[in-house]
Amino acid sequence: MPATVIIGGQWGDEGKGRVVDYAAKNSNIIARYSAGTNAGHTIVNDLGKFSLHLIPAGIFYSDKKCLITHGVVIDPLKLLEEISMLENRNVDIRNLTISNRAHLIMPWHRIIDELEEKRRGVNAIGTTKTGTSPAFIDKVARSGIRIADLMDKEKFREKINTILKDKNDLITKYFDSEPLNEKLILQEYEEHAIGLLKFVGDTMSIVQEADSKGENILLEGAQGSLLDIDTGSYPYVTSAVPASIAAGACIGVGLGPKSISKVIGVFKSYQTRVGEGPMPTELKDSMGDKLRNQGLEDGTAEYGTTTGRPRRCGWFDGVLANYSAKLNGMDSIALTRLDTLSGFEEIKICTAYEIDGQIVNSPPATFDELNSSKAIYEDFAGWQEDVSEARQFNDLPKNAQIFINKIASLTDVPIDMISVGPKREQAIIVKKLFD
Ligand code: IMP
Repeated sequence: MPATVIIGGQWGDEGKGRVVDYAAKNSNIIARYSAGTNAGHTIVNDLGKFSLHLIPAGIFYSDKKCLITHGVVIDPLKLLEEISMLENRNVDIRNLTISNRAHLIMPWHRIIDELEEKRRGVNAIGTTKTGTSPAFIDKVARSGIRIADLMDKEKFREKINTILKDKNDLITKYFDSEPLNEKLILQEYEEHAIGLLKFVGDTMSIVQEADSKGENILLEGAQGSLLDIDTGSYPYVTSAVPASIAAGACIGVGLGPKSISKVIGVFKSYQTRVGEGPMPTELKDSMGDKLRNQGLEDGTAEYGTTTGRPRRCGWFDGVLANYSAKLNGMDSIALTRLDTLSGFEEIKICTAYEIDGQIVNSPPATFDELNSSKAIYEDFAGWQEDVSEARQFNDLPKNAQIFINKIASLTDVPIDMISVGPKREQAIIVKKLFD
């Protein structure tokens, strides 16, 4: 390969987990390189259905190395819960390594996430309240605590002692809320340190060594490009650094840009968003409800993996998809959830926006402009057939083929994989993603 990035092209929840699960077969290493417990994917395989937030979707291949790198912020309790859940379901996790440079989500991050959202009132961002963005903010403010600090009892105590004073001042004096107890935090995190110890290592050296040997490395993105702090729908974005776009993968694992040989963008066949913020193709009517609830029977309806919130649903936004394809330098697209579109009389794709009477083909920079953008649609005849058994492009109804070809032409990127259901085998490989 050697290094391939799998990135979400929309606002997250595109189905990256199942694409990583597929691509992991051809990889020696699978590394999750950004975000925190705010992310979540669902994977369905021979062992059942799994919801993962931190551990790479490649964990189901026991012969692959799985890494959580320094680009991720880790809530140790959530990670230990995920580890035990996998162990209890007989998944071999001995090949998991977590970076000693990764930052920790601390109890004050979760509390500040909640309090900040309350303070924002009508301007709330709709965060996941997992403490993820506050942990990234502290990382950049240079007041974060890293896994390496957690492993050094004395250093950890010193850090907590200094930082907690400031955090408690913020919590009590600014937010008028209850202070956190130092002793309880120490007790809890010292237990976490024991649980995590055997997984801690230098993930950067592992990746760099594999790269120098020409091994195949899969870099697993979290969230979606439109949630990126610089290029997303600011301020309705996440605070993760490195960026939630493909370029962030190099920073998040510690590789140079020349090591990346392929970028695979994952898009849903329609648009979803959780949390607040502009969404020009949102359907606030029964059509949106239909998109959200199509998967109720098989447990794939559009409700958040992390928070359970109903996802906002709408038609595929070709303006944002083209933007995202360029932003990430996509070589290939994996289009997911085509099966959800079966049973619609008519399907739409947004091909441009109208803003103040002007037609535009790329997203505007400001919240106000994006929020007032009127989607201009191209209409497509739908299909009634169940596509979940299709395994070749030609097995798909003609109207579905026309719809897919339009997405390829709008993004100018070939659609190489199409998923038609949650199970591993429910996919059409139009062109092999790897040689
Ligand atoms: P935060 O990352 O929890 O601060 O949330 C900021 C915004 O990103 C909110 O709109 C969240 O709903 C959204 N967000 C964060 N992680 C994900 C994800 O994995 N999928 C979809 N949306 C997400």
